[in-house]
Amino acid sequence: MATQRVAVITGGASGIGRQACLTFARKGDRVVVADYNEAGGAETAEMIKQAGGEALFVQVDVSKQESVEALVQQAVAAYGRIDVMFNNAGIGGAGPVLEQNMDLYHRTINVNQHGVAYGIIAAGKAMKELGIRGVIINTASVFGFLASPGTFAYHATKGAVIMMSKSAALELAPYGIRVVAVAPGAVDTPIIQGFKDKGMLESMKQKVMGGELTRPETVANTVYLISMDEAEAINGSVVMADQGYAS
Ligand code: NAI
Repeated sequence: MATQRVAVITGGASGIGRQACLTFARKGDRVVVADYNEAGGAETAEMIKQAGGEALFVQVDVSKQESVEALVQQAVAAYGRIDVMFNNAGIGGAGPVLEQNMDLYHRTINVNQHGVAYGIIAAGKAMKELGIRGVIINTASVFGFLASPGTFAYHATKGAVIMMSKSAALELAPYGIRVVAVAPGAVDTPIIQGFKDKGMLESMKQKVMGGELTRPETVANTVYLISMDEAEAINGSVVMADQGYAS
């Protein structure tokens, strides 16, 4: 029988991350639900258990390296391995360039960029030490290469996620560890449901083929497909999960 995989998923309390937790668990993986939102994360883990799956909630602040290291250590302590690391937690916005609130600017970089770096480093070290040919998947965005007004710092972080994924993939390939970025377009989750500028939300919808926001379940399915051994040709790649956003 194949070894049951262990998937660690950050941002697991909501949106894309929650759907990824449910998808990986439904497919038979043990899931470590990680988020700083304790109530939401615990609820995701409970949903998995109610459906007969195996899950553990670990509270994490991805903007702190020691917190991400502790997350990976707890996953390995609980289940003995880590096969999939989905660095997905993120925050949006941060405002127009000339009106930057620098605290928010730094917060966006700390969560969206440094948080992903800490996840790549901690999971990469653990997989290498354990001799596991795992996969690290990082949530980028179409905003990693398409500009739009009002999200200056966000663009910087998502561009960084793409290049960090490519660079880490190159270095981890000799250990059989893949690193992949996934780029959603406009997904129906709280991060964009909360836009104060409803005109911006409407214009984003129009850029998605079909004119409706992408369902987070379908992004989660894409992430699952990337994680499969059969997808080994996907490495150092940016996989679009954007329903043709603005193309
Ligand atoms: P969401 O707001 O539903 O989920 C984000 C999760 O990250 C939340 O549960 C939140 O508590 C968690 N989080 C935020 N900061 C954290 C921290 N410091 N430590 C631990 N957890 C933290 O939003 P969504 O849409 O599911 O976002 C997931 C990822 O997808 C993000 O990286 C986002 O940038 C990206 N994305 C989203 C798109 C969209 O249209 N919704 C489009 C492209 C990318």
